[in-house]
Amino acid sequence: MNERVHDCSDDGQDGPRQPVHRPVLLHEVVTILELREGLVVVDGTVGAGGHARAIVQGIGATGVLVGLDRDSEILTSARAALADAAASGAEARVSLHHLAHSSMHEALAAAGQPRCDRVLLDLGVSSLQLDRPERGFSFMADGPLDMRMDATAAVSAADWIASATEVEIADTIWRLGEERHSRRIARRLVEARRRTPIVRTAQLAALVVEAMPGAARGGRIHPATRTFQAIRMHVNDELGELRRGLEAALACLRPGGRLAVISFHSLEDRLVKHFLRERCDVVTKKPIVADEAEIRGNARARSAKLRCGIRREDAA
Ligand SMILES: C[S@@+](CC[C@H](N)C(=O)[O-])C[C@H]1O[C@@H](n2cnc3c(N)ncnc32)[C@H](O)[C@@H]1O
Repeated sequence: MNERVHDCSDDGQDGPRQPVHRPVLLHEVVTILELREGLVVVDGTVGAGGHARAIVQGIGATGVLVGLDRDSEILTSARAALADAAASGAEARVSLHHLAHSSMHEALAAAGQPRCDRVLLDLGVSSLQLDRPERGFSFMADGPLDMRMDATAAVSAADWIASATEVEIADTIWRLGEERHSRRIARRLVEARRRTPIVRTAQLAALVVEAMPGAARGGRIHPATRTFQAIRMHVNDELGELRRGLEAALACLRPGGRLAVISFHSLEDRLVKHFLRERCDVVTKKPIVADEAEIRGNARARSAKLRCGIRREDAA
């Protein structure tokens, strides 16, 4: 799975389409990571390479950037973005890997690095993924109901909806989407799948809208936003991955090394906050959020929260 060698966010499907290469909280990430010549940096969610471009410039010719993404397709964009950076004078060694961030030790070993000095995790899904209907993440355009970040993973969203019980569907949509109409939606999906398999994003979106009481259909966000977010997080086990990724980061960082995480979901942010409090020296007492100018230019930045911690000498 290893290979050598945008704007990304959570489910910001309700806002207008944004230009693609717009990394969230870029200046804040570069500042909090305290980049300098020669550092070994892991970008565990390299995506389209927006943050990675700035990182390679910050670590100079003697630095090493190890980038990972679960999505092999998106690594093509990262490779292109980083080739541009190299052409513009930053010559840090770059090593890209089709791996989950929980496997960062494997990527570091493949790059010949026993440990690293910095880790960045920018969670959620990329707009490059959202903007491609064939990946099945979006209710904005019809496509197969897939939602797997890693196309080699076994279970797609359609598979899960076909096999989960009504209670499992309702609980997932409630827990990961904080969708108050979760039970009505689950009931509607289970009724509908008895007649026809639910295999398209437009089909799922229409069923969710039908399940909602009339008054709930006209809010600020599309009525299917929370359900799509929950199913995507479940299919990709995003909270489980985050737990494993944080542990992996701590194991790979040198003492004194920095871990920065951008999250877009309250459950993710809570997990990161507690992990940093218990296991690291916290740099950000409060999460860093986007300022109004960034939110005006990029609606997806509005729910981003950046937290950072330092690995202690005695960290397990
Ligand atoms: C918000 S985007 C990252 C954007 C990137 N920072 C940039 O500036 O272009 C999130 C990316 O993380 C990837 N991803 C999500 N969970 C992952 C995981 N557990 N391991 C590796 N990559 C993951 C997604 O496939 C997506 O490409």
